[in-house]
Amino acid sequence: MENLVCQLRTILEPLELAELFLKPQPLEVELGCGDASFLVKYARQNPEKNFIGVERLLGRIQKLDRKGQRAGLANLRGVRIESAYFLEYLLPPHSAGALHVYFPDPWPKKKHRRHRLINEHFPALARNALTPGGTVFLRTDDRDYFQQMNEVFSAAKEFEKAETPAELAEVVTDFESDFNSQGIPTLRAAFRLRG
Ligand SMILES: C[S@@+](CC[C@H](N)C(=O)[O-])C[C@H]1O[C@@H](n2cnc3c(N)ncnc32)[C@H](O)[C@@H]1O
Repeated sequence: MENLVCQLRTILEPLELAELFLKPQPLEVELGCGDASFLVKYARQNPEKNFIGVERLLGRIQKLDRKGQRAGLANLRGVRIESAYFLEYLLPPHSAGALHVYFPDPWPKKKHRRHRLINEHFPALARNALTPGGTVFLRTDDRDYFQQMNEVFSAAKEFEKAETPAELAEVVTDFESDFNSQGIPTLRAAFRLRG
């Protein structure tokens, strides 16, 4: 199998999804996928969907390749790039049925909060990325960031609160499993784009 991490020909044009995947299937994206623990499990459980993991660190996106190849996954690809840029410029508009954002860097210092991915600009990026009725699934351990996530989506009237299906919540991420084993609970939210 070829390398699962896309060799981008250009970062100025949207990806050709038909060139990326063997089968045209509904697409879901994880932003900041880390070592792809979540995506490899979830892609294996959902062979009828295609998945893209976005991650800026080389060492981590290489793990997506190694783990995905080992699992023989034809429905998983990785892109090494910054998440907001990916949504704005590389993902074809209205192509993803779900965006998964799990344990994004919390930037706890007040002066660094502008670096947070889920900020007041994010709902507009998500709206452009999602298919009608598509959903943003969020998890964090950070109470302040969780409040910010809820605030920015409450202010975005095109989104409504949704539930995380139990079978999705059961698939834990690498960071989540570390936090949970230390007794730190997962804070979870989901927001659905009104159809
Ligand atoms: C705290 S880790 C969580 C990883 C994974 N989601 C998990 O739950 O195990 C955050 C990940 O997001 C990546 N990351 C942070 N900001 C990013 C950005 N703006 N674009 C792409 N990746 C980013 C980091 O390199 C890191 O791998």
